[in-house]
Amino acid sequence: MSGTMRLDRLLANMGYGSRRDIQQLVRHRCVVLDGAEVTNAEMRLAVGPDLVARMQVNGVALDPPPGLAIMLHKPLGTTCSHKEAGALVYDLLPTRWRTRDPAISTVGRLDKETSGLLLMTDDGGLLHRIISPKKHVSKRYLATLARPLEGHETARFASGELMLEGEDKPLLPARLEPLSERQAWLTITEGRYHQVRRMFAAIGNHVEALHRDRVGGLDLPSDLEPGGFRLMSAADIAAVFAGSPA
Ligand code: URA
Repeated sequence: MSGTMRLDRLLANMGYGSRRDIQQLVRHRCVVLDGAEVTNAEMRLAVGPDLVARMQVNGVALDPPPGLAIMLHKPLGTTCSHKEAGALVYDLLPTRWRTRDPAISTVGRLDKETSGLLLMTDDGGLLHRIISPKKHVSKRYLATLARPLEGHETARFASGELMLEGEDKPLLPARLEPLSERQAWLTITEGRYHQVRRMFAAIGNHVEALHRDRVGGLDLPSDLEPGGFRLMSAADIAAVFAGSPA
């Protein structure tokens, strides 16, 4: 993110307290920039990821400034919502991050009973580029089914003619790669409501378990445990768009 911002406004927007709280922190010499205590809460500074290495608040490195992107291993039973009852994906992030402005949002949604790779960002432009139909960012799911595959499913999903119940526009072709009788990878490029579960329902099967392991060319890291998250690097973001039209 480019441009300059007042320090008190930046830290308040990042959840460190009110502007008055930040002024107190500065008065107590609790904010350090480039090794020197900050004395003016109204100083302007360029906002960028380099601030994490350059600034400390109460002796701890600054949180990532606005413009962050996160990959989260969504555990089963968590909801992609800011306000529903029960466990929310936002509860898995540091508490302070819940009050950030701009707010962190999920890039699309996974159902409560779906696990796997969930991207989150406070960058609206990035979010829209990932979910834009023009970018065709693919999503790969591992589906565990109630009934054995019969052999016709790959062709039906690839046909570009499959219709979901209650809709009047057929689905774009999707790639099914059976792994066993009741397990298959399914790669889709759209993001319709409950799409994978409804695709299998449309052909007379039922999804018992669903896990997403890839978005675009970005894989869920094998060492990222359920409930864990990691900041995305520029290379991770580029991987999401690998193979997408410019
Ligand atoms: N399709 C579904 O049915 N559920 C998800 O969570 C994602 C895709």
